[in-house]
Amino acid sequence: MNEVLKTIKNRRTTRSYKKEMITENELSKIVEAGMWAPSGHNRQPWHLTIIENKEIMDKISLETKKVCKNIDDPLYFGWANNNNYDAFYKAPLLILLSYSKDAFSPIDDLGAVSQNMGLAAESIGIGSCWIGFINKLFESSDEKNKEYIKLLNIPEGYKLHHGMIFGYPAKEKLKSQPRKGSFNRIK
Ligand SMILES: Cc1cc2nc3c(=O)[nH]c(=O)nc-3n(C[C@H](O)[C@H](O)[C@H](O)COP(=O)(O)O)c2cc1C
Repeated sequence: MNEVLKTIKNRRTTRSYKKEMITENELSKIVEAGMWAPSGHNRQPWHLTIIENKEIMDKISLETKKVCKNIDDPLYFGWANNNNYDAFYKAPLLILLSYSKDAFSPIDDLGAVSQNMGLAAESIGIGSCWIGFINKLFESSDEKNKEYIKLLNIPEGYKLHHGMIFGYPAKEKLKSQPRKGSFNRIK
């Protein structure tokens, strides 16, 4: 199997991280891979915010849990009502993904950026986890989005969507699991 296919199949979500930050060189490889994602109408409508600030990460985690206290989803309900739950699993690095409001296919585009970054990380021995949970905070009101756009110095006209965390895995990686998704083929 070639290296790309191996990387795709070996990647697993990491939810336990070492404290130390990844190197600048590793970070730039991950960000660059994100920037090379395809996008609808080639708008490249993303803005990435690279955060290594525990205070801000704790604030986002706590506020997300607060807006999800009564949510009608068992997984999110469990996370929101668990005092010990950290939405970022104590990872040293969070990259928030925002899209420009004039994007053609914003969610697909951010998905492509995220997957590129997760695979790039895997290829250099760095763990990652997609953090969709925090979207509940950013979509909770326009005011919330505005507050974070200002706090995080994101250009006007962007909307925060989700995050990806990165770091050196603290535990041995989970084994790849058989996949459930289906496909069909027509000739
Ligand atoms: C859109 C999306 C949102 C996700 N959000 C979260 C999240 O908020 N927290 C979390 O721990 N994992 C999150 N995940 C990770 C999934 O739970 C994980 O990819 C899935 O269980 C499959 O495991 P694997 O990545 O190891 O193959 C998310 C994944 C995707 C694609």
